[in-house]
Amino acid sequence: MERIGVIGGGLMGSGIAEVVARAGLDTIVIEVSDEAAKVAEERIHGSLERALTRGKIDEAELAAVTGRITVATDLEALADRDLVVEAASEREDVKLELFRRVGAILEKDEAILASNTSSIPIVKLGAVAGRADRVMGVHFFNPAPVMQLVELIPSLTTSPETLGRMQAFVSEKLGKQPIEATDRAGFVVNSLLVPYLLSAIRMYEAGYASAADIDKGMVLGCGHPMGPLALSDLIGLDTIRAIGVSMYEEFKEPLYSPPPLLDRMVDAGLLGKKSGHGFYAY
Ligand code: CAA
Ligand code: NAD
Repeated sequence: MERIGVIGGGLMGSGIAEVVARAGLDTIVIEVSDEAAKVAEERIHGSLERALTRGKIDEAELAAVTGRITVATDLEALADRDLVVEAASEREDVKLELFRRVGAILEKDEAILASNTSSIPIVKLGAVAGRADRVMGVHFFNPAPVMQLVELIPSLTTSPETLGRMQAFVSEKLGKQPIEATDRAGFVVNSLLVPYLLSAIRMYEAGYASAADIDKGMVLGCGHPMGPLALSDLIGLDTIRAIGVSMYEEFKEPLYSPPPLLDRMVDAGLLGKKSGHGFYAY
């Protein structure tokens, strides 16, 4: 797989595009508008500049990686891709429409259409794509250029060959560490992480402690790299709410249900780091 498409150039799509282009692969990122495309380009460039400043890449590599990435707004640009990773907003209606359209656009029979979804059933995306055996979940972690893990999620209809090709791609081409999970909302990591983050939000809402002290507790008491409220801000509060809703719909367990404060913050546009304000100001 040499020609890669990424749908969505937000937090995850821009990071995935960087990872793929740094692995030497031709990369097209699709965004919804020229304005969103410009933001995505700036985000990717900013991350590469940071890698340059930290001495991880040199000027020549920065130019080469940038040259391998094209940001566009027309899904038809994905026609010749070998692999497309969808990383659009965590909304089932948006993803179903994308899988329906892109499934029909891909020209190569063997092309794989993957989703970076955190919680939406992969089998549903396969059912509308017209190539259910070549659709699966490929779940990167935030920030994608830093985090080593990728969860691979075959659905009931994914072929063993598709899973095998993605295992090889993720470990050999991208140099990441895959684990395999079943097609259940949350997979492995979010099934454990999201109830923890929602508990921290409930704790803050109930006035147990300040945001800074809740976070300090988990950083200094448990050795986590960041506390749960700072991590929620990093992930995006709209994304956490959407994941919680999907997990609650799937299992009907109260621990997955987003607390009212999270709903109110998202409704107010307080989405965390990406909007400049969440539990903290950025
Ligand atoms: N893009 C690229 N590189 C980045 C980056 C970004 N957005 N953010 C940090 N980095 C790099 C830095 O360049 C630095 O690299 P070097 O040490 O090699 O120079 C390294 O990461 C550490 O960065 P900093 O020193 O600036 O900051 P830090 O030490 O506080 O680390 C962090 C930042 C990597 C985000 C760290 O706090 C961390 O690991 N936090 C936890 C993140 C986490 O749990 N992610 C999973 C979220 S859940 C998810 O993704 C699934 C889902 O579906 C919601
Ligand atoms: P984000 O809000 O930062 O970015 C989403 C991007 O998708 C936006 O830039 C938006 O313009 C674009 N988009 C929306 N509809 C589109 C369409 N029809 N075509 C093309 N682009 C479209 O969200 P994110 O955090 O990057 O999350 C993207 C996906 O990755 C979600 O499925 C999310 O669950 C998953 N994910 C998120 C994280 C995280 O920590 N944020 C981690 C792992 C996986």
